[in-house]
Amino acid sequence: MKKVLVINGPNLNLLGKREVEIYGKTSLKEIESNLIKFGKNNTLEFIFKQSNEESKIIDWIQDCMQDDYSGLLINAGAYTHTSIGIFDALKAIKIPIIEIHLSNIHKREEFRKKSYISEVANGVIFGFGSYSYILAAKAMKNLLK
Ligand code: DQA
Repeated sequence: MKKVLVINGPNLNLLGKREVEIYGKTSLKEIESNLIKFGKNNTLEFIFKQSNEESKIIDWIQDCMQDDYSGLLINAGAYTHTSIGIFDALKAIKIPIIEIHLSNIHKREEFRKKSYISEVANGVIFGFGSYSYILAAKAMKNLLK
């Protein structure tokens, strides 16, 4: 089993209750169980984390330098568009990174078009609601084979 860390940023704990017309009705807990189910059938173990705090997210990214994670999936929420700290931490790690968004960030406000994460990610998946996570898991499986 290869271990893949999944980091979720601010407000993603509210999925299913927050702006459902944009983010859908699926909760983060349901997304997590869908990924775990996908992992069991695909020899991947997903370790799920969520925080509203930038420093915790940076610490978890840094964990990828010591812990035996093979890949990282990250939806940094609003920090995607602002955080040079997260950008620098991602540059320090050597494993494949896939950026995820539920919404199509290019179809929304202008400020969402800038992503610091895209500059360091192997690839980006956005716009498919909770299914973006499964697509990212499939892409990670392919990167790790
Ligand atoms: C998001 C998009 C971000 O712009 C926003 O701040 C979020 C969620 C997404 O998954 O669509 O919190 O990352």
